[in-house]
Amino acid sequence: MTEKSSARILVLNGPNLNLLGTREPKTYGTTSLGDLEAMVKSHAATCSFSVDFRQTNNEGTLVDWIQEGGKGFAGIILNAAAYTHTSVAIHDAIAAIKTPVIEVHLSNIFKREPFRHHSYVSDVAAGVICGFGPVGYILAIDALESMLRHQS
Ligand code: DQA
Repeated sequence: MTEKSSARILVLNGPNLNLLGTREPKTYGTTSLGDLEAMVKSHAATCSFSVDFRQTNNEGTLVDWIQEGGKGFAGIILNAAAYTHTSVAIHDAIAAIKTPVIEVHLSNIFKREPFRHHSYVSDVAAGVICGFGPVGYILAIDALESMLRHQS
């Protein structure tokens, strides 16, 4: 088994993303979190990544999981949802680890209310993808795959 074939990635979803599929479908679409997880896992398998896919409504749990992602994971894909715009604790957790974090949002946060235009994640993330719905998670996997390939 090559190093790449054993790479694990952590996909973290923040508050209210458990409601995907029924939550504000005009903004977030009709794909459920379960469907999104299946899409992510199936695409990740083509890149030889194994995926740990999680969701929580709690800020501290996201902080704990980001710290966990700093040990033994090749990358983190993070949709911190509303905490993106409020959480210094999440910013600091990302700054404290070496694992690359890709920030993802389903919606284009820059086309929305001004309070969504600032992210506490972006300046500590390796990159940001927003506005492409569930496809953004697939693009994030490809971005991680490319980053890790160029590192090795
Ligand atoms: C979101 C955008 C955030 O502003 C919002 O609070 C979310 C979801 C997105 O995926 O588009 O809950 O992160």
